[in-house]
Amino acid sequence: MENTKLTPSSSPIQACAAQRPCAVLFDAYGTLFDVYSVAELAEQLFPGQGQALSLVWRDKQIEYTRLVTTSNHGAHYQPFGELTRAALIYAIKKITACTDNTRATDQFLIDFEPQIELLLTQYQHLDAFPENLGVLQQLKNQGVPIGILSNGDAAMLHAAVHSAGFDGLLDQVISVDPIRKYKTHPDAYALGEQATGLPASQIVFVSSNAWDALGATWYGYQTLWVNRYQLPFEELGTQPHRTGHDLRAVLDFFPN
Ligand code: LAC
Repeated sequence: MENTKLTPSSSPIQACAAQRPCAVLFDAYGTLFDVYSVAELAEQLFPGQGQALSLVWRDKQIEYTRLVTTSNHGAHYQPFGELTRAALIYAIKKITACTDNTRATDQFLIDFEPQIELLLTQYQHLDAFPENLGVLQQLKNQGVPIGILSNGDAAMLHAAVHSAGFDGLLDQVISVDPIRKYKTHPDAYALGEQATGLPASQIVFVSSNAWDALGATWYGYQTLWVNRYQLPFEELGTQPHRTGHDLRAVLDFFPN
């Protein structure tokens, strides 16, 4: 599916003043939508293991994006929804100690189909972090063009945006799916420039994923790392331009 504009944007060039960035692009999963909010349902389905499942699921999902982007010139690319399903199956196998690889995968899928489908459905309706709606509304009120630049495929992103009540707020929802390369590939970050018509240096890229904030900084965006869980930043010699505790920190780029 093509990347789409959800609403017509005013000209980004007109909207920004000399001292300010001209637009904001948000990462989606982990930044706008709480990928660990699935832990509650996972706990009901796998008592005592809900949190572990949500952590393994997320880590494996991201690992798969890197695997398919860097291996064999992208020949193994699958959309984010497919990688999310595959990562969930891996996570359930791990927490249920299904390490007998002689067991037919088909049988595993039959045994766990209800849990898999319930969790994937929940993933379409992830909780948004509580401050996010207000922050998006405030940026919109200030005339700042805002969008998403995500590894998610278009169908997933639109479902999540709708479920979170963000309809009509975002000027653009940009998925990497048309180019079949995941962040942190530079072609993925380039989509933000192409979609906005702005250089990365005039765009704030916001992510709660430290690796994503780092990749965007290296690419040339102004960056905000939203460090919700008091984690250390990546130890690779580059820092994001700013760090905040929640999404409200992005408003500091646009003082009244
Ligand atoms: C995204 C993943 C990285 O939304 O969270 O792009």
